[in-house]
Amino acid sequence: MKTKHQTPLKPSVTARRNVIIKRITFLLVAVAFVAIILACTTAASGRADEEAAPIYVEEIPPGYRDWRLISVAHEEGNLNDIRAILGNDIAIEAYRDGKLPFPDGAIIARLAWSYVPSEENNKVFGRPQSFVAGPPTNGVQFMIKDSKKYASTGGWGFGHFNDGKPAGEAVLKTCFACHQAGTFRDLVFTGYTP
Ligand code: HEC
Repeated sequence: MKTKHQTPLKPSVTARRNVIIKRITFLLVAVAFVAIILACTTAASGRADEEAAPIYVEEIPPGYRDWRLISVAHEEGNLNDIRAILGNDIAIEAYRDGKLPFPDGAIIARLAWSYVPSEENNKVFGRPQSFVAGPPTNGVQFMIKDSKKYASTGGWGFGHFNDGKPAGEAVLKTCFACHQAGTFRDLVFTGYTP
């Protein structure tokens, strides 16, 4: 009796177990599939965010004070300064060869000093006519060309330093917005002065 009673039960228990195992396997595969898809989309969107977010120059390029002169300018209004625009070797070569857009590695620096009358020079001239560079003002600015790193801001990284300290994002956000108007020379306003 015992064996007779047990024997017919066995196959149905095994069949049910098989069904349960199949369902669990299906669930696990489905969960793994969804997890993989989620991981891929988050990674992709993370990368897209990184590309779109502007990156700024946060370190002063070494040796910039020894670079060669591109030109000078005088700004009035609130700036009231006299400025020199310098370029590293790659920038200077590109200017002289008339090469546009600027190649990766080109760096342009903008230095500025307050625009002040020179009493000493005026004495020599015998009348007020001489203006010179006073103390540094309006910070030091840089544009670094790296078409991949700074792809979201026209291939240029913008940097502004007051007393060696980088300006905050609020200031740096304004750079590209305005320099975009300089499409005639790859976003650089200053022309080379022979
Ligand atoms: C309202 C427009 C405007 C804004 C904002 C602006 N610039 Fe400029 N920038 C100019 C103009 C115009 C010149 C050329 C005349 C001059 O030197 O003043 C210039 C010159 C420069 C130069 C020299 C190369 C060139 O393009 O002539 C650098 C480097 C520079 N700016 C960097 C910056 C940085 C960094 C910022 C942001 C902190 C910035 N600029 C914000 C208009 C702007």
